[in-house]
Amino acid sequence: MATSDSTKRTLVELEANSPEKVTALFDGIRGIFDFDIAGRQQTDWQAIRDAWLSRKTGLLTLIGDNWLKPAPKELKPVVGQEFQKLKSHVEATLESKRKEMEAAAENAAAARDQIDLSLPGVERAIGTRHLIRQTYEELERIFLSIGFTVVEGPEIETPYYNFEALNIPEHHPARDNMDTFYIEGSRAGHLLRTHTSPMQIRTMEKEKPPVRIIVPGKVYRRDNPDATHGYMFHQIEGLAVDTDITFCEFKGTVEYFVREFLGPKARTRLRPSYFPFTEPSAEVDASCHVCGGSGCRVCKFSGWIELFGSGMVNPAVYGFVGGDYDPAKLSGFAFGMGVDRLAMMKYGISELPVLTQNDVRFLRQFP
Ligand code: DAH
Repeated sequence: MATSDSTKRTLVELEANSPEKVTALFDGIRGIFDFDIAGRQQTDWQAIRDAWLSRKTGLLTLIGDNWLKPAPKELKPVVGQEFQKLKSHVEATLESKRKEMEAAAENAAAARDQIDLSLPGVERAIGTRHLIRQTYEELERIFLSIGFTVVEGPEIETPYYNFEALNIPEHHPARDNMDTFYIEGSRAGHLLRTHTSPMQIRTMEKEKPPVRIIVPGKVYRRDNPDATHGYMFHQIEGLAVDTDITFCEFKGTVEYFVREFLGPKARTRLRPSYFPFTEPSAEVDASCHVCGGSGCRVCKFSGWIELFGSGMVNPAVYGFVGGDYDPAKLSGFAFGMGVDRLAMMKYGISELPVLTQNDVRFLRQFP
């Protein structure tokens, strides 16, 4: 620092022998201080304070020691005055610098902490239940409300449970439209179940009557994929067996289901059909949910939509189960619904593949 030379010497050595020269000396020092502080970063104010005000080595202490104390008597008042002026100037300037710096630091912290509420937040996409899952839950809600319980079973089945025990013998034509995938290797002789009906048998083998169950699950068929067929789809099976179940209970249950699923105005129609494991068998139709039965493109102008297959349990099936299932004492009904089909119908979806393509543009329509 350019001041160090002069502040180490006395006024006599500096030849400051008049009040003017003393004032000029102090003016010079003040200029140096002003220059020094103007050129510094705000955060350096402490370094400058040390350089100027430090009790042992600060420049003001040097000036006091070298200029003020040994000053000749006649100059002492001027030197004292100038010294006080310089000291107050240095102190005041440093103090205002300190305040400035603290305020700036506070402002910076406040700016950092400020939350900009106008900024859009980080949106985290949370998943939703798939439409098939939602439909299952709806179906389960309806049947749980009338005393059914949910059971699940294996997707890899034996031909016995998938066919024979359901009264579908080896060369029965009913097997034709249920061609499936046969397992090779260690589980050879097994197949991928073509329907959830095997769980009728498995449940009755395990549990004494009465039973009231629904069976949600995946089933497989060797279908050629198109708009309404795939190699896998979803079913929900139903079975109710007790000592006093009549066709009336069957019909009442089915009608209750249709109204719950499609709305109170929906009407039900039973159409004769054939399944080896039910006798009699029926297709359940509902009045078209789009036109209400007057006829439209969706119901192909018939007013009716086919919902699912059903019937009274064929006594031959109890024969396969044996045990407590005495065909002379028991009766019951069963049904098997295609869940994909029901969902597509209810929500107006025309293509089966969109259900498994995982396109979020489709999935988001069913939050
Ligand atoms: N298992 C049949 C199928 O997949 C559907 C079915 C029809 C199930 C009538 C039943 C029933 O329980 O009674 O085509």
